[in-house]
Amino acid sequence: MFLLVGERIFLVREGEKINTQYGIIDVRKAKPGKTIKSSLGKTFLVMEPSLPDMLKKCKRGPQIIMPKDACQIVAVTGVCPGWRCLDAGGGSGFLSLFLANIVKPTGAVTAYEREKCFADIIKHNIKLCDMGNIIKLKNKDILKGFSEKNLNLITLDMKDAEKIIPKAFKSLKTGGWLCVYSPHIEQQKRAVASMGQFSEIKTIETIQREWQVDNSGEGYTHPKPSGILHTGFMTFGRKVR
Ligand SMILES: C[S@@+](CC[C@H](N)C(=O)[O-])C[C@H]1O[C@@H](n2cnc3c(N)ncnc32)[C@H](O)[C@@H]1O
Repeated sequence: MFLLVGERIFLVREGEKINTQYGIIDVRKAKPGKTIKSSLGKTFLVMEPSLPDMLKKCKRGPQIIMPKDACQIVAVTGVCPGWRCLDAGGGSGFLSLFLANIVKPTGAVTAYEREKCFADIIKHNIKLCDMGNIIKLKNKDILKGFSEKNLNLITLDMKDAEKIIPKAFKSLKTGGWLCVYSPHIEQQKRAVASMGQFSEIKTIETIQREWQVDNSGEGYTHPKPSGILHTGFMTFGRKVR
């Protein structure tokens, strides 16, 4: 895929020709770092897309874990290349993709999604982001059991997450981490009540405010009045045994 940056931004497949308001853009000869002109003479810079660029093109089904929350997993657990992760439920696959982008090229993410329609969305997104060699998708109900062992990280963003927390503990390596995402405090409480074997337990909520920056010199810079505030609570625990 290429990102074409000009008056507008386009994400296009290599070898594609697209029809736009700026005329036809033919990317067959495009090279990252070079510019390309549309048939109406508009210039676009060709870049390689990053994962956040790709996620904008991904399909969405169930509510995703947002970047402001996903990045906390890196901060708390230190997830890095080579880690073996399990992510349930898979939902739209956004968290699995976020983790895959960090643990690649030697790590792995196994995503469990119970519903076939959502598993199909994840499959589509894995293919689009070219993560098929890192993410293994299982269209299964994880409450019925899972066989993955020696994991560095387990992330749970699903109903009844507390029911598999004891099994999650057994499946982690010493030093491995569990992260439970709970939209409601009642779910968070049930998760913590099941985390008796874990150490370093903490629950966080991330509030991110974007600011309206005024460069006019008039002094009108202020936080934007609206934004996404509460999304979910994230509860972390570490296997120290
Ligand atoms: C909120 S979504 C997860 C979104 C995901 N974290 C993302 O970033 O795209 C929750 C998902 O968990 C799935 N789920 C619920 N219970 C499950 C189970 N027992 N096994 C596997 N998946 C389950 C649901 O079908 C739903 O797709």
